[in-house]
Amino acid sequence: MSADNKNDNMVVTPWEVKGDIDYGTLVQRFGTQPLTEELKERIAKHAGFMHMQLRRNVYFSHRDLDWWLNEYDAGRPVGLYTGRGPSGGVHLGHLLPWFFCAYLQKAYNAKLYFQMTDDEKFLHREDLTLDETIAYSYDNALDVIACGVQPELTHIFSDTDHIGHIYKLGLQVSKRITMSTVKAVFGFTDSDNIGLTWYPALQAMTCFLQSYREGRNVACLIPAAIDQDPYWRMTRDIAEKMGYTKPTQIHNKFLPPLTQGGKMSASQPESAIFTTDVPEKAAKKVMAAFTGGRETIKLQKELGGRPEVCNIYAYYYYLFEEDDAKLIEVEQQCKCGALVCGDCKARLAKMVKAFLVDFQTKRDKAKDNLADYLIK
Ligand code: TYM
Repeated sequence: MSADNKNDNMVVTPWEVKGDIDYGTLVQRFGTQPLTEELKERIAKHAGFMHMQLRRNVYFSHRDLDWWLNEYDAGRPVGLYTGRGPSGGVHLGHLLPWFFCAYLQKAYNAKLYFQMTDDEKFLHREDLTLDETIAYSYDNALDVIACGVQPELTHIFSDTDHIGHIYKLGLQVSKRITMSTVKAVFGFTDSDNIGLTWYPALQAMTCFLQSYREGRNVACLIPAAIDQDPYWRMTRDIAEKMGYTKPTQIHNKFLPPLTQGGKMSASQPESAIFTTDVPEKAAKKVMAAFTGGRETIKLQKELGGRPEVCNIYAYYYYLFEEDDAKLIEVEQQCKCGALVCGDCKARLAKMVKAFLVDFQTKRDKAKDNLADYLIK
């Protein structure tokens, strides 16, 4: 068996994530750099504390983050960019980079450009109308706001409704990207609609939007899961030709689905917790989730559980158990068979309910001041 065989079933593209994800292999395959302790410490120093996702290596890879930090240290402006393809409700995985953006925004006093790609989702999905994807843009914006971003530093925009702010720059970008590039990078074929082949210019454009609007170069950092990386490889190739600096990235891992295999998806509602789920219903999904437990309680007590393959443990690890000592306790109790899956799930279900109650209050409040966060 070759070293790579274990990853043969791994697919990570902007439209599909499946198989056993090996993050070390992705760093090699995508040609990114592993996130070092030194870089994590630099961010922690600026922020006043190390974010849980940094501490636990949920952020694991980057491109030129060191340069972005150097720019900040040299007193030059830095900015943030991330986005969402509004195809339905937001699940907890989507929130990871958005919470992280709120943390970085505060630490660096950085503007955040947040792109709602209602055009992309309309072009990509047979089952969605344009009115639906646009409506999701504004609905999903409430989730972004509930993550704690600041109104005076945040510019959320819909590709369709706010096209006047972005079209000229989008054209500049699209003139420098050839059909053969988008075919090679995204695998488009002659049977794809032409809208899809133009769309990458718009996702690339936002890397330069702050610089374009301010008439000066602003170092751009993109926090997102690594599935979006092909866009940035393409954008980095044209940046300097356009007189802009290359966008930099920090990549997060994927929060796994609650079900075994596959991905979190709106078409399989039991696979994910959505921010608008009724808390009781979300708790039931947790109780029905896949775990790393043994077939029987007797076996669990004898052999212990397997947190390393357990999705419930992943939820504690990525989001819900902030206290490192308590996380280690869960892991050890599981491994020695003292903690059985039912009790472990019940503990998480309680945390998920409390989280949703709080998040949904913030989400509701966001409805009153959504306009303050939109691009002007
Ligand atoms: P979308 O809507 O697929 O995903 C939104 C953000 O969530 C990340 N993500 C996850 N992170 C952790 N665990 C998961 N299970 C998980 N699933 C998705 C994605 O990496 C993304 O950061 N084309 C984009 C929209 C977009 C964008 C951007 C995203 C436009 N500009 C700039 C990131 C950065 C999309 O459809 O994202």
